[in-house]
Amino acid sequence: MKKKFPIGVFDSGVGGLTILKEFREQMPEYDYVYLGDNARAPYGTRSFETVYRYTLQCVQWFFVQGCELVILACNTASAKALRNIQQHDLPGMGKGKRVLGVLRPTTETIGLHTKNGHIGILATPGTVNSNSYVVEMQKFFPGIQVSQHACPMWVPLVENREYSNPGADYFIQKDIEILLKKDPAIDTLLLGCTHYPLLLKKIESYLPKGIKIISQGPVVADKLEDYLKRHEEIESRISTRGTCKFFTTDSPEDFDAHADIFLGEKVNSEHVNLVS
Ligand code: DGL
Repeated sequence: MKKKFPIGVFDSGVGGLTILKEFREQMPEYDYVYLGDNARAPYGTRSFETVYRYTLQCVQWFFVQGCELVILACNTASAKALRNIQQHDLPGMGKGKRVLGVLRPTTETIGLHTKNGHIGILATPGTVNSNSYVVEMQKFFPGIQVSQHACPMWVPLVENREYSNPGADYFIQKDIEILLKKDPAIDTLLLGCTHYPLLLKKIESYLPKGIKIISQGPVVADKLEDYLKRHEEIESRISTRGTCKFFTTDSPEDFDAHADIFLGEKVNSEHVNLVS
């Protein structure tokens, strides 16, 4: 019998913790390994080639750890690297390995939330410029009007733990205003970056009442649970002691300080050297 493995959860930094938190609440029985590539975050302003190279390196690291199911809890990596990894790299990496992203599960459900068919997306420049959300949403919900705006400062605000400080207000207010000018009829706002739920309080304070905000954690957790029900051959190979290990490519002290606040529990991450 093959060895059981934990689920790998990856992000450029701490944003993927918003996804991991929901996984653990919804599927506490599984073991998880989280890797944040904090040393090279943000990914959102980097080229396609660079995001692909960094993401592939991290995925390979998970496979070396024995995680055969890896979730890219990062929209930028899902938009810019996932397809290449699935089509070109995975076939040569041995049988049974899976890499899934957050874009597809989000686009499959987002159109169910809007009443008037007007959706707004705030995301990193990488995700917005890839146009992936616009293209994918038209497949699942043709006719829906999607307007997007890139917020290059939001991930650095989160990574530098500035999310509740006044400096964040300037960028959040400005970016929301720009998006709403593109389409004042937006009734549903997707936070298309896993870092953004950490800015939720400030986002809510600048968004007109009545606009529904969608964070990806619960959506992606529901979809993973459903995926595992439909893929018994993978589910039966996931280890189930309810543990979670954390790794970062940058300072474990910084990562822990961040993760402790967010997850509400003591985290002891370990350093991984992937940065060349
Ligand atoms: N959390 C990542 C995402 O969902 C942020 C990417 C970045 O590092 O800019 O896109």
